[in-house]
Amino acid sequence: MTETVLLIGGGGREHAIARSLASDCDLYACASNRNPGVVSLADGFERVDETDADAIADYAETVAATLAVVGPESALASGVVDALEERGVYAFGPRKMDARIETDKAFQRRFMVENDVPGCPDFETFHDIEGACAYIDQYDGDVAVKPAGLTGGKGVKVTGDQVTKEEAKEYLRTEKYEQVVIEERFVGEEFTVQALVANGDVRPTPAVQDHKRAYEGDEGPNTGGMGSYSDAGRTLPFMEEGDYEEAVDVLEAVVSALPDYRGVLYGQFMLTADGVRVVEFNARFGDPEAMNTLPVLETPFVDVLAAARDGEPLPGLDFSPTATVCKYAVPDGYPTNPEAGARIEVDEDNVGDGLLFYASVEERDDGLYTSTSRSFAVVGLGDTIAAAEAVAADALAAAGNGLRIRHDIGSAELVERRVEHMAELRTQ
Ligand code: GLY
Repeated sequence: MTETVLLIGGGGREHAIARSLASDCDLYACASNRNPGVVSLADGFERVDETDADAIADYAETVAATLAVVGPESALASGVVDALEERGVYAFGPRKMDARIETDKAFQRRFMVENDVPGCPDFETFHDIEGACAYIDQYDGDVAVKPAGLTGGKGVKVTGDQVTKEEAKEYLRTEKYEQVVIEERFVGEEFTVQALVANGDVRPTPAVQDHKRAYEGDEGPNTGGMGSYSDAGRTLPFMEEGDYEEAVDVLEAVVSALPDYRGVLYGQFMLTADGVRVVEFNARFGDPEAMNTLPVLETPFVDVLAAARDGEPLPGLDFSPTATVCKYAVPDGYPTNPEAGARIEVDEDNVGDGLLFYASVEERDDGLYTSTSRSFAVVGLGDTIAAAEAVAADALAAAGNGLRIRHDIGSAELVERRVEHMAELRTQ
């Protein structure tokens, strides 16, 4: 039977999901923006806010969806999976309660403690901002300051890295978040491992390293992610096999404690001198990490979705032994003062051997316009990270004016710096 899949979301991650599904199913999509990459792959598209659960469920009924895939966390937080389920449509994504593993960072940390999930930092949660500030003052060491709710990856401040303790307290007093988590700062190298999860099965995918900071050399404010790379195997050059296995053990411990969890479980890990620690969990594919992972997934993604829905064991995942490098092009001024609504040129025919994924752009009759978020990404694939980086660098010829890129992502110099940093930490 040919499945009819509804994809929710209109970013680079969703363009990558659409690409991995389009040839194996009838694909429909809905999002608040008209992403030309998603629209061109889909048999139908509806403009719907990703948080409007009823409107999404209506569209799923209209197209007679047999499956759905939820891209963004905002949709999970608004109960889109639950609404689809009420209409008899299986969505690959956690229900609202289970999505709290991402959408409520205070829940996330308490859950780890209550269920003995390894890799949890020292932490405290606060509704009272002055209490949080006093804790920061008395804590012996640097801290990560995290709003408990969703902030698009841009709300975390780390003392001793991005800000001083005084600046962290000023930030809390200015932003007045309803609840914050203050936790021990981890020092090391970050990496992501995502797993496809359903029916108690956990199918991990290769590790990826994302780059949150806006500017080259890891300078500047945090972003949603400026680009990422993965290697031809399941680890990264600064990791050992045991580090990857430790990360997978953590994801398995989460699923043991949340047996109904389904969808993507994303672990953001810090490899420290003392082993693997959990920076955070997300309840969906990473963006950009989906653009590294899905192009090398050889197992049809739709087969995973169908097995999940049918209560069957998930198929084992095959990946091509290929390295990937992803580089985002973002509007000038992103993330602090992005130039939204600017017309941009993207030359799709000028990406060489690279892949192009549109992101938070809006296709109008007279061209393509920026939003406040990332515009498009290119992905290079190759036998090595260096070969993939060269393909991605060439593909950036597609970018017209008004866009900014972190050219250092995936470069030999940056990867070597990561390896040296980890070697240095391990010998301390
Ligand atoms: N790459 C970071 C995220 O998807 O949250």
